[in-house]
Amino acid sequence: MTGTQAVTEQVIPKPKTLPDAQTVTAVTHWTESLFSFRVSRPQTLRFRSGEFVMIGLMDDNGRPLLRAYSIASPSWDEELEFYSIKVPNGPLTSRLQHIKPGDQIILRPKPVGTLVIDALLPGEHLWFLATGTGIAPFASLMRDPETYEKFEQVIMMHTCRTVEELEYGRRLVEDLKNDPLIGEMVEGKLLYYPTTTREESPLMGRITDNLTSGKVFTDLGLPPMAPGRDRAMVCGSLAFNVDVKKVLEDFGLTEGANSDPREFVVEKAFVGEGV
Ligand code: FAD
Ligand code: A2P
Repeated sequence: MTGTQAVTEQVIPKPKTLPDAQTVTAVTHWTESLFSFRVSRPQTLRFRSGEFVMIGLMDDNGRPLLRAYSIASPSWDEELEFYSIKVPNGPLTSRLQHIKPGDQIILRPKPVGTLVIDALLPGEHLWFLATGTGIAPFASLMRDPETYEKFEQVIMMHTCRTVEELEYGRRLVEDLKNDPLIGEMVEGKLLYYPTTTREESPLMGRITDNLTSGKVFTDLGLPPMAPGRDRAMVCGSLAFNVDVKKVLEDFGLTEGANSDPREFVVEKAFVGEGV
């Protein structure tokens, strides 16, 4: 070959940037079907502890595949945390469960939701009632100083089928007691009542049963719920939400919303098949 030297044009692929992309910073697998992860927080994102956002990944056709997720970290945290189920063949979670630090996810920065302290009338005792991944919004609220400024006693009731499914919440509560920021506020104020229904553990039974039988009040040395003093937030499956709502109403509490604060608020932890 004479004359000019052949020039090979090299195209350096640009990193694919997703719309509303955030970077995964940590992933923890708790059980075969539960994991949590942390992502960078958009600088402009403001939210109230307990709210949820839409997050997801691109599907094979380059379209965003988004699902609602409660933000599990408190509003002061510089990152965002999420706690997730792994649904077998679930469109999003069958992929999301494989994310690693450095990967990107989509996060639509429009937080909404009813599980916020503003949606409750002032009270003395605040009950968090959750099954399964329904603990996620309370993982946020339990780490927010405002929760302890507004309530004298905070009670976290979490029920799962097995002991290992409680581990994310158990660890969170344990770490909270040693937290330099709110460890002292939490001391004596946060009562944790984890129960299982299908495996032996120190505390057993459904939340609904432990409330109606009065067992939880006896165990914790608290008076039964009363509308003048007690407030509640509920997050679980639709069946759980329906049943616990009835129990709370039997104690005389009424359901509120952002626009109409009352004694308790409810949010679905997920939308079940056919619902
Ligand atoms: P999908 O097609 O969405 O769900 C398939 C089936 O899996 C559902 O029909 C249901 O039967 C079951 N399922 C879905 N999610 C759950 C779950 N969390 N627990 C038990 N069974 C479930 N999910 C979380 O894991 N963490 C959260 O913090 C969370 N917050 C939510 C907040 C709101 C307001 C709503 C409405 C849903 C929330 N979800 C949460 C559920 C989430 O939006 C998705 O449904 C879930 O990530 C599964 O997505 P998928 O595409 O894999 O399967
Ligand atoms: P149980 O084992 O008695 O069904 P699931 O995995 O089915 O969403 O359930 C999570 C937890 O919530 C389980 O401990 C389950 O108890 C409990 N639970 C399910 N449905 C209800 C309900 N309608 N009322 C109270 N607890 C419920």
